[in-house]
Amino acid sequence: MNDYFYDIYGCKPQIKVTASGRINIIGEHVDYCGGPVFPASLNLKCNVYGRANGCGKIRIALYGIEGVKELDLNSLESYRDAKYINYQAGVAFILKSQGYNLVGCDLYYKCDVPFGSGLSSSAAIEVATAVALNEIAKNSYSLEDMALIGQRAENEYCGMNCGIMDQFASAIGKKDSAVLLHCDTLEYEYVPLKMDGYTMVVANSNKRHTLTDGDYNERRAEAEKATEILKTVTPITRLADLSVERFEEAKGVLSGKILDRATHVVNECDRVYKAVAALKRGDIATLGQLINASHESLSTLYEVTGYELDCLAHIAQRQKGCLGSRMIGGGFGGCTISIVEDGEVENFIKTVGEQYEKAVGYKATFYNTSIEDGVTVEEL
Ligand code: GLA
Repeated sequence: MNDYFYDIYGCKPQIKVTASGRINIIGEHVDYCGGPVFPASLNLKCNVYGRANGCGKIRIALYGIEGVKELDLNSLESYRDAKYINYQAGVAFILKSQGYNLVGCDLYYKCDVPFGSGLSSSAAIEVATAVALNEIAKNSYSLEDMALIGQRAENEYCGMNCGIMDQFASAIGKKDSAVLLHCDTLEYEYVPLKMDGYTMVVANSNKRHTLTDGDYNERRAEAEKATEILKTVTPITRLADLSVERFEEAKGVLSGKILDRATHVVNECDRVYKAVAALKRGDIATLGQLINASHESLSTLYEVTGYELDCLAHIAQRQKGCLGSRMIGGGFGGCTISIVEDGEVENFIKTVGEQYEKAVGYKATFYNTSIEDGVTVEEL
């Protein structure tokens, strides 16, 4: 990759930064309600090569895209609609507004996280950018803060009101572990992703989800509405503050879709704790059942799946050796994860692939994934 950098900028990069895409074992559409999530960072990464360039501009080249784009450090607010570089611009803008020193630099991006896949390519780009800009400027920083900056860039600069899960997983993920992250306090715990005899299979439905941002923001607004109504009858700050029992007592004030959305959030939070406990005691069968229940709830109550994701998860759930399967990420398209017996993986991929194609008319993609450290920094 050094060669590409050299071809474009005429010199060698000084550093290589990587930040990961993620899967989420369980805990979907609860991060922005203050709930617990359980993601893990992938070997699919955004790679950034960089060096200081001594001018007041961040120059950006991207693998597969012609030309070099420029961000003027003095007008970082003006790139909100710039194609391909708005995440980078947003991160630079937020970093600067928070008082981080930025210097001109040349950056080259190769993002291996498939775009629009629900594996959070945007968070990987944001976190990699934040870390690279700080490294090049020789600032001190924490990875937790870089996750928060990535989220603010996405919320305030790019208009997607995402929660903190993706950026956090990308920033602090750890090899062979999932992260139990409490999104209200941002306290977290690493839990070894040890599933003896089972493999986590990641499949992309290849359904494009162009309306995701709008639908996502709408779901978030509905969850916030449910919270406001529930506050009138029970003392909570966030929806995730309610146990299943307290929710059952209070839910009479909700109805229709708002009731469905809140029912999902409260029960999904409960499932996360049960899933973590199951994984810790090596009870993969129970983990699988909770994953299936999560999908059903996302499909029928939260309505963020759609035909393709439902097909992919339901076909997977029926296969021999599959303990559980569900959509991950924002939904409306993107990926599923499935827990599959090691000896059945090959057959699983073949059969699910065939049946999915028959049902939707195009192929799913299966990835060879592993769980790796979220961020790496290498001096070159
Ligand atoms: C997207 C968002 C996350 C989270 C998930 C759903 O990936 O970026 O913050 O809300 O959807 O769990």
